[in-house]
Amino acid sequence: MDHPPTFIDVKPLRRFGLDKKTVPLIQHIQYFPNPHRVFTELDYFFRQTELMLKQTGTRALAMLRFANIAAREQAQGPGGFVVNKVTVVGSGFVGATVAQYVADKDLADVVVVDILEGIPQGKTLDMMQAAPINGHDCNLIGTNDYADTKNSDIVVITAGIARKPGMSRDDLLKINANIVKEVAEKTVKLSPDAIFICVTNPLDVMTYLTWKTTKLPTSRVIGMAGVLDSARFQAFIGMELGYSVEDIKAMVLGGHGDLMVPFPRFSSVNGVPITELMTPERIQALVARTRDGGAEIVSLLKSGSAYYAPGASVAHMVEAILKDKNRLLPCAVYADGEYGLKDVYVGLPAVLGREGMKKIVELKLTAEELAALKKSADSIKENVDQMNKLLVAV
Ligand SMILES: NC(=O)c1ccc[n+]([C@@H]2O[C@H](COP(=O)([O-])OP(=O)(O)OC[C@H]3O[C@@H](n4cnc5c(N)ncnc54)[C@H](O)[C@@H]3O)[C@@H](O)[C@H]2O)c1
Repeated sequence: MDHPPTFIDVKPLRRFGLDKKTVPLIQHIQYFPNPHRVFTELDYFFRQTELMLKQTGTRALAMLRFANIAAREQAQGPGGFVVNKVTVVGSGFVGATVAQYVADKDLADVVVVDILEGIPQGKTLDMMQAAPINGHDCNLIGTNDYADTKNSDIVVITAGIARKPGMSRDDLLKINANIVKEVAEKTVKLSPDAIFICVTNPLDVMTYLTWKTTKLPTSRVIGMAGVLDSARFQAFIGMELGYSVEDIKAMVLGGHGDLMVPFPRFSSVNGVPITELMTPERIQALVARTRDGGAEIVSLLKSGSAYYAPGASVAHMVEAILKDKNRLLPCAVYADGEYGLKDVYVGLPAVLGREGMKKIVELKLTAEELAALKKSADSIKENVDQMNKLLVAV
């Protein structure tokens, strides 16, 4: 077995009246791909598990897998085995990578929708064929029909176009705004309880538009940028110091663009502030590289932009939400007075859990840091105003 042993919480099993003999048996089953799902989900599965407990060893493992799949297929309605559903709109580089990471982390069934015929279908079929190797039972489908997205728990919007030579920023803004508006309208009708994660650029503006269009509470519309920008900063700190990135934490706030605000004093290696480990000059160099992180990749790729780290960042947020982890992550969230900012989506530290954005955490910032954040928010507001002018009505 090449999977590491997984700790299985036996408390829920005891609740289901399983006796002392059977609990050790289930603890024996160390290699199930997603014990979290099996042992914390609804009671349908436990009925299957009880049957399976009469078996032993590998046979039990096979039955556990079988029961998981069978439960998923049969269960509908109350008491059924609930599998989370994530819709990804856009089957391009970012959308497909989000789908792949969400499935590989065994988080949810995934529906990928695009206007292009065959692309979402082909990519998801390919991913389904990787599932036996990567060890998950998530169902992935590609479609051109929004009906397949019905009742999603999370909707990720990556649909849009990249700026092409000769195209002005306003042209791009207008095209992507029309796409995002249409996508948000179609998806929210079918998944009114979903949490929306916007990825399409210009990110903060498109997230604002998604919120306006869906008319959902601000807690359920979030933009992905800060997780990516922070991950880039973490990666560069790791490369500079030669320490494991597992120990490196970083915080990048503000808008997703030239005016993002990396916070060296909130960035650390296992609790040690990076300001203790690097000269101010080196920190400034890494801050600058983070700010240009997207452009550096674009210039290398020549066409298209980054997608592995953006895809991983979205999957990280999806996991925090579906597992109700209460993670403190920098995300584009709606500021309603926090940090002195109002009526703007901008990157701030926020707690993510099953209800979406649970709260914005207000850190004590210096006057200089606050000014940088305000400058970033003002520039986003200008772009929102510009978008409103370009669109007939938001
Ligand atoms: N927020 C971030 O940090 C971040 C990071 C990377 C990329 N992005 C942005 O994400 C977006 C997607 O990037 P990509 O590299 O995947 O681009 P891409 O061109 O590879 O994919 C975009 C996809 O959207 C689809 N699409 C276009 N109009 C549509 C519509 N009306 N309905 C459904 N699908 C539609 C296209 O057919 C295409 O498959 C871009 O706007 C990019 O700038 C944001």
